Amino acid sequence: MSITQTAGAPPRAPRRPPSLRNLRTAAADPYPLYRTLREHFPLVYDEPFGAWLVSRHDDVRAALTDPRLAPVPSPADGRTPDHREALASALWGPALRALTAAVDRSAFVLARRLAGRESADLVAEFCDWLPTATALAALGIPYEETARVHRWCRAGLDHRGRHPELDAFLRPLVARRRAHPGGDLLSALCTAGDGGRPLSDEAVTHIAGTLLGAAGGTTARALASFLGNLLEHPRQVDVIRARPELAAGAWAESLRRDPPVHVVLRWATAPFGAVPAGATVACLLGAAGRDRARFADPDRYDAFRPDPAPLAYGFQPHGCSGALLAGLTAERGLRALLTTLPGLRRAPGAWAAPEGRFHRSPPALPVRLR
Ligand code: HEM
Repeated sequence: MSITQTAGAPPRAPRRPPSLRNLRTAAADPYPLYRTLREHFPLVYDEPFGAWLVSRHDDVRAALTDPRLAPVPSPADGRTPDHREALASALWGPALRALTAAVDRSAFVLARRLAGRESADLVAEFCDWLPTATALAALGIPYEETARVHRWCRAGLDHRGRHPELDAFLRPLVARRRAHPGGDLLSALCTAGDGGRPLSDEAVTHIAGTLLGAAGGTTARALASFLGNLLEHPRQVDVIRARPELAAGAWAESLRRDPPVHVVLRWATAPFGAVPAGATVACLLGAAGRDRARFADPDRYDAFRPDPAPLAYGFQPHGCSGALLAGLTAERGLRALLTTLPGLRRAPGAWAAPEGRFHRSPPALPVRLR
């Protein structure tokens, strides 16, 4: 069924569509609910949730790229200037070299800390730290500040999309870089321009805050799912150990099967099929990645699947600006673990199921290291 039609219930459809509100009770396993939606209610208004739900792969893709569906304005929009373009060019530009070196350095520091131990929890001791440590290293902020900044980042953004303590911490650093620029990303941002004008202190602080705060949690979650998926398949790990160039595909496959963000919201600026103008649309990335009409055996993790085509980052112009950095973090992080910890494997016993309704990942990854 195309997205421009309303849902007609095929035979044996449940009489009422399930609601995303039910995800509260289905949080341990949302996939049966997603399947019911895909098979019987591919485009349906979810009254308790207050949004139209789109769940099939091709429909979610179409919704994410349709100009009639715009990102839902956040409370911060209009109150803080929009520096998305400057952030995107900072992450793609010459500073990418600094970021790549920072990922490598941080990943090896974290992995070496585990070397010599019997066991560890990769979520608490690796995945949660690597994105923050990487961003700090790239910005040229001393490693000793990682714990403090990590705490602020985990506390989340305020209603203006800012971290007051993080801003206060960054401001003097920005002033210092303006006076004595170096080779780090913070110096690059201080000398970068936005439409011909140099970025203001406010803009540089905001971009650095986004890099540290808004992005860290998502990458940490995705990294946890990625390592979890791989360690469940030790033979696939052996292949990637011998052929590291296959890690990018393995990462894409994990983003397909277990995206860290399960729901992206849009609002209709004009009628969109059955969706009236002004309505909210929930694009179910978690459901789209398991669509058997698009992927053979979609629940299976296969690091070498030929075309995992994840929707996990959305698409430009609204999609994620940090996709490249996130991929680098995953690939270099994996390489550091496999190189430093040759005995790395899943600890015996059952692993805790992934948690979270809209943001989802395993809460812990107990592993043996020797
Ligand atoms: C695996 C890791 C990540 C995933 C899966 C992810 C996913 C997403 C998704 C689904 C969106 C919304 C897209 C949309 O509305 O269509 C988004 C937006 C965004 N992401 Fe990420 N993200 C990740 C890491 C990062 C990183 C490392 C950064 C780095 C700075 C970042 C920066 C942003 C920004 C600035 C936006 C807003 C874009 C806009 O509204 O134009 N993300 N991301």
